[in-house]
Amino acid sequence: MEPQKAGAAGVPALAITELRKQYDTGVQALKGISLQVDPGDFFALLGPNGAGKSTLIGIVSSLVNKTAGEVEVFGVNLSRDRDSAMRLLGLVPQEINFNFFEKPFDILVNYAGFYGIPRREAVQRAEEELKRAQLWDKAQMMSRTLSGGMKRRLMIARAMMTRPRLLILDEPTAGVDIEIRRGMWKTLKEINAAGTTIILTTHYLEEAENLCRNLAIIDKGRIVEQGPMRTLLAKLDVEGFLFDIDGELPAQLPVIEGTRLVAADSHTLDLDMPRAMDLNSVFARLNEAGIRVRSMRTKSNRLEELFVRMTGDGAQATAVDTTPETAA
Ligand SMILES: Nc1ncnc2c1ncn2[C@@H]1O[C@H](COP(=O)(O)OP(=O)(O)OP(=O)(O)O)[C@@H](O)[C@H]1O
Ligand SMILES: [Mg+2]
Repeated sequence: MEPQKAGAAGVPALAITELRKQYDTGVQALKGISLQVDPGDFFALLGPNGAGKSTLIGIVSSLVNKTAGEVEVFGVNLSRDRDSAMRLLGLVPQEINFNFFEKPFDILVNYAGFYGIPRREAVQRAEEELKRAQLWDKAQMMSRTLSGGMKRRLMIARAMMTRPRLLILDEPTAGVDIEIRRGMWKTLKEINAAGTTIILTTHYLEEAENLCRNLAIIDKGRIVEQGPMRTLLAKLDVEGFLFDIDGELPAQLPVIEGTRLVAADSHTLDLDMPRAMDLNSVFARLNEAGIRVRSMRTKSNRLEELFVRMTGDGAQATAVDTTPETAA
């Protein structure tokens, strides 16, 4: 009956089984979610507003009571041994929640003290974490004077003070500009490379694509898709391009087998083709038809497309229809 030793080979960093949450209001925020995150993974939880991401994170970090299901952190069952599970976990919540009238250095040292870390050790870690967060020069400033991006980085530094083996971030980059976001990605990649398992929720598909090896897409309390990022992207067998054309398009466009070619306007072509097909044959046909391509762009972010497909209206119908029409 003893919980598996944390970190034992083969024990997932996070194992969630049939997790359900019904709030007092009657809202069913989670309708039976199962997922597993491997040690060392960088895992994204994607989903639109109200999907249930924060509820899930809230349950894992003991801020929200579950209705049913099981949660294990490195083999430690959350219901049976909450304190041990919590010691393995660091949380960066959606809202900034440190005291603006404290200095970053004190915020970190006091936080560590709260977790029973001796002061000498805490002081040393605070220096390390502030340096990693590029906040060392701000260590003794009133934290209210930090910029939005700095405040976000301080939230991460604080969570790292307890040396968590699993770091969970709820929309760490919401509302920050792309430059700050990139800086935070770098920090998170470093933390992950040093061995910490990371789970984050995000609306930014670009973020998930950039950082994460595995992901789950959640919508209306259910997982609609999960797996390696690469596998999910490969499911999108159709690629879209826009061609800018020199001069006017002919009235009759060539028919290129296996593709869908339409005129977006009098000098732009819109093409959908299987990813396996090469563009040379397309260009050859356009050439024959006397159409000269001046430049081309990819039509959309593929992950974006996947997301829309999985969570949009009629998701049920399209979710199963991932096989390309051209497949044998
Ligand atoms: N404390 C609460 N009491 C009642 N209902 C709640 C509570 N918190 C969340 N909900 C509801 O549960 C559902 C899931 O909300 P949750 O905050 O988990 O979504 P989310 O995926 O984090 O969304 P967002 O991307 O907007 O942060 C929503 O319908 C929400 O209204
Ligand atoms: Mg949320």
